[in-house]
Amino acid sequence: MERIKLESIDSTQSYARKELESLMTRAPLCITAEEQTKGRGQPGKSWYSPRGAGLYVTLLLAEHERTLPLSCLAQLFSLAVAEELENLGFASQLKWPNDILLAHTKVGGVLCEVVHQPGERMALILGLGLNVNATADQLKLVGSAATSLQIISGQQWEHEPLLQKICSSFLTLFSQMKQLGFVPFQKRYEKLLITLGQQITLPEGPALCEGVSGDGRLILRTPDGHIHLHHQALNK
Ligand code: BTN
Repeated sequence: MERIKLESIDSTQSYARKELESLMTRAPLCITAEEQTKGRGQPGKSWYSPRGAGLYVTLLLAEHERTLPLSCLAQLFSLAVAEELENLGFASQLKWPNDILLAHTKVGGVLCEVVHQPGERMALILGLGLNVNATADQLKLVGSAATSLQIISGQQWEHEPLLQKICSSFLTLFSQMKQLGFVPFQKRYEKLLITLGQQITLPEGPALCEGVSGDGRLILRTPDGHIHLHHQALNK
């Protein structure tokens, strides 16, 4: 996969969007930055991105609409990251649909955006923020609880090998998903799902988390026994 390495940028996601037309001809493309001055998290949130402390990555993929179940992209990307962390000896968990956790604390998150283009073409702009060598002092500046690979393991991690592993693992999962959908990944995702079998609270009230569906939605059982498939809209 071709690579664009940026020193400092507002956000690798915003960069991909701004330069979309020319970058699409180079997809699949991996864009990274050493630091982001306006890293974006889930809508309304920012992503704290100090220099050299984490992986700030955007993968740009050019796809055709009809073939893809878009609702499971964030789940697939976060699964690839969590499984790579497991391979490195971390006990990772997932919080549906975007968060990667270590020791019950967020270590990374993904942000999947889609831009529809003429014909049935579309750009998938898949962002990953992973706290790698961020220190506890740095992470105090994040609004909510956060951890890093270094805090959990007590050692520093090189960014490049980590990035290569995550990208190649995601691309493998992505090409399998294009053939088979999310079904082959359901059990793998559930194995790491932190809320599996637990009561969770939705704005509508409490519900029991029973797993993920074949298209990546969260399966919830409400107290009246009804099953709901909870889905998060993709960011446009
Ligand atoms: C989340 O809120 O959990 C998602 C965080 C996504 C952050 C990454 S860092 C690289 C890419 N560029 C951004 O501005 N955001 C994503």
